[in-house]
Amino acid sequence: MKKQSNIVEYQFEASQFEWEIAEGKTIQAWGFNKQVPGPIIKARKGDTLVVRLKNSLSESTMIHWHGIRVPASMDGTGEVQKPVAPGEEFEYRFQVEDAGSFWYHSHHNETVQMERGMYGAIVVEDELDPVVDEEKIFMIDDMKLTANFEFTKPSWALPRLIEKHDGRQGDTLLINGKVDSLLHMHARQMERWRFINASSARYFKLYLGGREFKIIGSDGGLIEQPVVVREALITPGERLDIMVGPFKEGEIIPIDSLSYSRSTFLRPKKETFASVKVLEAKPSVANIPPFLRVIEPLAPQEAAINRKVKFSVGPSLKNGMNFLINNGLHVLDEPVKVGELQVWEIDNVSLMDHPFHLHGFFFQVLEINGKAPAYKAWKDTINLTPRTKVKIAWMPDNRPGKWMYHCHILEHHAAGMMASFEVIDAATPYVTSRSSCHSH
Ligand code: C2O
Ligand code: CU
Repeated sequence: MKKQSNIVEYQFEASQFEWEIAEGKTIQAWGFNKQVPGPIIKARKGDTLVVRLKNSLSESTMIHWHGIRVPASMDGTGEVQKPVAPGEEFEYRFQVEDAGSFWYHSHHNETVQMERGMYGAIVVEDELDPVVDEEKIFMIDDMKLTANFEFTKPSWALPRLIEKHDGRQGDTLLINGKVDSLLHMHARQMERWRFINASSARYFKLYLGGREFKIIGSDGGLIEQPVVVREALITPGERLDIMVGPFKEGEIIPIDSLSYSRSTFLRPKKETFASVKVLEAKPSVANIPPFLRVIEPLAPQEAAINRKVKFSVGPSLKNGMNFLINNGLHVLDEPVKVGELQVWEIDNVSLMDHPFHLHGFFFQVLEINGKAPAYKAWKDTINLTPRTKVKIAWMPDNRPGKWMYHCHILEHHAAGMMASFEVIDAATPYVTSRSSCHSH
């Protein structure tokens, strides 16, 4: 990493390489700079980030900066750029305006490219961050591998349908690209742990063997006040920052995911992703203030809804199952105007969970089935449980262009559960066309 004034530069090469997920267990991974996850991007709030991507894969790719408020042209989707073909290069350049835990991932053929490891963490720091003794990043993933550690797509009809329905969930459980990692921390200290769910479909219900921990941050940075819990759900695409400790020397803290039923064919169960061993005591400088920051409400809970978005799942003769938005596949939604407050109701009428993700803009959750959420937060991904209505508010700031929202279960997104829409300058007249949409 080169750092000059406020420009932070990275050179990324996407390629296929051998990656050791555990001793003696090697996979043919796809990723950035021959590592899974890709390099950790570190910047300070306000920095300009420059990432030069060279594609040495045998197929096209693109990078999406999940949670970063980039200009539309840098969003890394097929709406705004030509996929970077094998041998080609592309330069991403944008400012990072928010502190928090973000991530990047391939936004092309994601069910293959992300499953094989094309993702990484972005940490944006700020002076307002609480003082902690140490920080750790936990990038959650799981891979579905054969006994020989190979990636294959199910070829029979039933397993294919199951993978489409459930999303691709595997039993090779990874934290930062490794199986069964043993990490360390020191007794008496308090650490900030940043969780990022990079999996295709795994619902990760964080549990530290029953110990309390404090939620301090969400998708869009710090929340207002720490929230003490013993478990917390992190769905695909979401981030959660927590404070842990102090613990006693000799303790082993499991990083567990509790069983969560999202109406899958696969039976949910409790699983351990990694462990943290507590070493000898060291003095602590950590200081977590009772108030972390103010989050100004965008709209009152009862604000009038100006758009409804319906998520549903239906049978299909052609595809086995359709994953729909407003009864369509890969739809084009109406444009929104810069500066006009958006209050959307996302209605999941299906009998399974879907994590809704909005590109480029943070929203606030006003209501979940009529009730205010437990705490205020800036979000870009929110889980929709079956038969649930979530009301969100967001403000299209001055970044006109093409954006999208979709289910972050990659197989559902690929099967149609996505919509693109345009943010338009208030001054520009707009002619609606619901005609075409693209593939992805
Ligand atoms: Cu992290 Cu379009 O997604
Ligand atoms: Cu879904």
